[in-house]
Amino acid sequence: MSNAPDLKAPKKAISHSTLGRARRWSWMFQRISGVILILLIAIHLTMNLVMGDGINQIDFAFVAGKLANPFWQWFDFLMLVLAMLHGANGMRMIIDDYARKPWMHATLQWALRIATVVIIVLGTLVLFTFDPCPAGSDPSLLPSFCEDI
Ligand code: HEM
Repeated sequence: MSNAPDLKAPKKAISHSTLGRARRWSWMFQRISGVILILLIAIHLTMNLVMGDGINQIDFAFVAGKLANPFWQWFDFLMLVLAMLHGANGMRMIIDDYARKPWMHATLQWALRIATVVIIVLGTLVLFTFDPCPAGSDPSLLPSFCEDI
């Protein structure tokens, strides 16, 4: 005689169905993207907070200088896409686990998908369309290479 609540039957082992394969890929993706993100974020924080003047160096000219360089554009793009997909995939699993009502589950999953796509598109536009030398700006605020243009 115990007052312990009834336990639910354990989930079935992941099958070889399409859904089973998708879950396995999702599990693998979280591990691989997590390890790559640790490396990317460590470099990101070292460049922005440790090298040079640290946090004091971050102004328009600093960001414009970085985003004028294809290496940092693609570095930031990779970090943006991996961070968003890693975070969204984790949130997807949390919604699966906790949103019990079908309408709430569907609403949250769609809100998550839309937010993820919008942020990736806007972030990518910033990275690849950023104008480091906007016309009519105070030259003292711009990166030094703008003087040659
Ligand atoms: C105190 C910590 C942080 C500071 C001061 C910082 C600063 C910056 C700065 C100045 C930029 C502009 C471009 C560049 O420098 O490459 C930037 C962009 C970015 N940061 Fe950070 N960052 C920090 C933490 C993080 C973390 C933890 C992530 C996690 C993934 C992250 C992800 C990004 C991404 C994806 C971009 C590109 C955004 C875009 O324009 O689309 N940052 N950050």
